[in-house]
Amino acid sequence: MDLDVRPITPGEADLFVRTVEGTFGDHPRPEEIENELLVLEPDRALAAYDGSEMVGTAAVLSMSLTVPGGRTPMAGVSDVGVSPTHRRRGLLTELMRRQLQDIHDQGEALAGLWASESLIYGRFGYGWAAFGGDARIERARSGFVDPATGDGRVRLLDRDQALPAMRAAYERALPGRPGMMARSEVWWDYVLFDPEHRRDGASASFFAVHEGSGGADGYVIYRIKRSWDEGFPQGTVTIEEMVAGTPEAHAALWQYCFGVDLVTEIRAFNIPVDDPIRWRLADPRRLRVTLFDSLWLRVVDVPKALAERRYAVEGSLVLEVVDPFCPWNEGRFELRAGPEGAVSSRTEAAADLVVRAGDLGATYLGGVRFADLAAAGRVSEATAGAIGRADAMFSWSPAPWTAHDF
Ligand SMILES: CC(C)(COP(=O)(O)OP(=O)(O)OC[C@H]1O[C@@H](n2cnc3c(N)ncnc32)[C@H](O)[C@@H]1OP(=O)(O)O)[C@@H](O)C(=O)NCCC(=O)NCCS
Repeated sequence: MDLDVRPITPGEADLFVRTVEGTFGDHPRPEEIENELLVLEPDRALAAYDGSEMVGTAAVLSMSLTVPGGRTPMAGVSDVGVSPTHRRRGLLTELMRRQLQDIHDQGEALAGLWASESLIYGRFGYGWAAFGGDARIERARSGFVDPATGDGRVRLLDRDQALPAMRAAYERALPGRPGMMARSEVWWDYVLFDPEHRRDGASASFFAVHEGSGGADGYVIYRIKRSWDEGFPQGTVTIEEMVAGTPEAHAALWQYCFGVDLVTEIRAFNIPVDDPIRWRLADPRRLRVTLFDSLWLRVVDVPKALAERRYAVEGSLVLEVVDPFCPWNEGRFELRAGPEGAVSSRTEAAADLVVRAGDLGATYLGGVRFADLAAAGRVSEATAGAIGRADAMFSWSPAPWTAHDF
């Protein structure tokens, strides 16, 4: 077999999308290909070829990620697939190796992705950095302890009317929540793509915007699935995305969703792990939440990544990083950091903590504790107290959350 991994040509973008969708078991429709091409950067798309045949794919989408106390470029890894005819022969491994080298050469300190299966990316140094919750509650059990009483109003708008308000609300929320990614106009178009065959019998999206005293500060995108049983309404509201920049917007938007008539259940596809909705409910156990892994992060340049975020408290640490897949990251790095900034560089000093690259990725956004990883035998302490020190420095509030899959 004559296998080769190389960047695609611009003329192969369409074939690239059809190839990757095929690896997911899909025959994409023309409008789906068009939607993928909105965000594809052909010069950052790699393919594996068997002779002239495209048999594997992996793309980078240039993104900007909110990190604790700041914002940094992130290589968004997407469109990863290997044709069923060529699996388990190391093609993904070759694509990942080449892609991480390219990302490193490009100067991005972080790569991130949503994984189709959680078994795939740990071996390439990715760690589970952000969580989402699939939530559901019966409408009859959704009463608040204190009903929302803010002065704002919720407006139900069509997509084009809602878009400027949603963009404004998203921009307000963006700097405060690690894991959120900046959304350009094309990304909004990508995210709002809503073909009928993907709705599973539910309505097209509805858009409700909250306007507070300072203007649009939150929104919810949801759909309704209508259902009747012997004359009784049994509908479902599914929240596709909710962003609330203020506590008033949060309370008003949830209360709005709980108030939709002809509905017995409210579901939300991806709520933050620390979403305060639980604490608003009078009967909180009724909100059932299943956690899933959303953003996986890969530290591509250790000292650069460490210096690009802020830390909860002042402190210093020497981290020994184990990273056989990206050997340029291996070794010891000193971190001197605090709420105002951080510096990091290679050092010969003795290590305080020994950590694998993937576990550093997991802790990077402040949502995973070194202590939990140590309890699972994944991180080890070389200096007494280092794990506690690292957790005090790295942990962050609010918890990381990523609004959309890519
Ligand atoms: C996931 C996928 C890209 C893997 O491609 P591949 O070329 O078969 O992967 P490799 O041969 O490089 O595998 C590397 C290692 O990962 C393991 N692995 C890879 N994918 C795996 C999976 N889905 N389940 C279990 N193990 C997997 C391999 O067994 C191999 O392990 P080893 O080194 O111990 O032998 C391919 O199975 C695929 O296209 N799946 C469907 C689409 C998809 O899920 N894409 C990922 C999107 S996030």
